[in-house]
Amino acid sequence: MPIVTFLPSGRKIEVEKGVTLLQAALDHGVEIEHSCGGNLACTTCHVIVRKGGWWLPGPAPDEEDLLDAVVGVQSNSRLACQLRVTRNITVEIPS
Ligand code: FES
Repeated sequence: MPIVTFLPSGRKIEVEKGVTLLQAALDHGVEIEHSCGGNLACTTCHVIVRKGGWWLPGPAPDEEDLLDAVVGVQSNSRLACQLRVTRNITVEIPS
């Protein structure tokens, strides 16, 4: 099963392959804001993929549109509710 490492805490969790990063985090008590409940209607679940991102499918156009509204967006930014974990990744939860 893939392992997700969260920064800055360094916490690692093992997750079911294909689950969204948001769901995996919530299932393991890792706090990621999610004002819209994971319905692709906010940007509060913004994360930055620091390692392993090259293995992941890129964001869909709807996710890209929302990411454009994120302050501090980076080329490896994603919305945790849309990112499905299929490999080991390291993600930063911006403060
Ligand atoms: S929780 Fe709102 S877009 Fe991800």
